[in-house]
Amino acid sequence: MELFEAVLTRSSKRDFKDIPVPLDLIDKILTASLRAPSWSNSQPWEIAVSTGKTSDFIKQRIYKRASEDDPGSPDFPFPISWPEKQITNILEAGKHRYESLGISRDDGAKRKEVALYNYVFFGSQTAIFIYIDEDLGHWSVLDCGMLAQNILLCVHASGLGACPQAYLVRYPDILREAFKLPKRKRFILGISIGFYKKDSIINNIKTSRVKLKDAVTYYD
Ligand SMILES: Cc1cc2nc3c(=O)[nH]c(=O)nc-3n(C[C@H](O)[C@H](O)[C@H](O)COP(=O)(O)O)c2cc1C
Repeated sequence: MELFEAVLTRSSKRDFKDIPVPLDLIDKILTASLRAPSWSNSQPWEIAVSTGKTSDFIKQRIYKRASEDDPGSPDFPFPISWPEKQITNILEAGKHRYESLGISRDDGAKRKEVALYNYVFFGSQTAIFIYIDEDLGHWSVLDCGMLAQNILLCVHASGLGACPQAYLVRYPDILREAFKLPKRKRFILGISIGFYKKDSIINNIKTSRVKLKDAVTYYD
């Protein structure tokens, strides 16, 4: 797949088939993704690939906490408020998603069900977790973002789907237990990966973007 086509056609997938992603394909995706740039080639990222029993363990634990409305304690705290411009974008994306799914604004139970699907990797058996050591700072988190985007694009170019998920790192104590990591390892992002259901409505939602002129200023 040509690069511009990959960038323009990628979208988050949120409904996967219950089949494992072959490990050699994950190796291929990660080998390419690890070509991501980083500050002075510091390569701050550490990656845990969750499959099989490890995924079952994580899903069972994080789903339970989320269904009990436990807010968790992410290593990188979730935003508690947003400026107006971002609120507008967020609300528009949410409205479009729930309208596409035929879920009304006040159907809290259905909305919760959709949200909780996050915590079972959207039905996939596979998720990739990116974490860093506590000695690393802001710039290393940025480096990890570049790695994450590479992963999303390589997954897409391989014909599979992925969704980057802050929700997957909401309960990092469970992840450290699952991956046998010390407390100093801090989780940045989880990415569910899998063979996605092509006809699923949620997998066919195309999010919008602000116009070029509203995001970019040219200076001569
Ligand atoms: C850092 C980050 C965290 C995200 N966390 C979640 C999440 O927890 N759950 C989810 O369903 N989507 C999550 N997303 C996906 C975004 O909602 C999605 O990228 C955005 O709406 C644009 O849609 P697109 O990816 O289909 O282009 C996250 C994306 C990023 C970059």
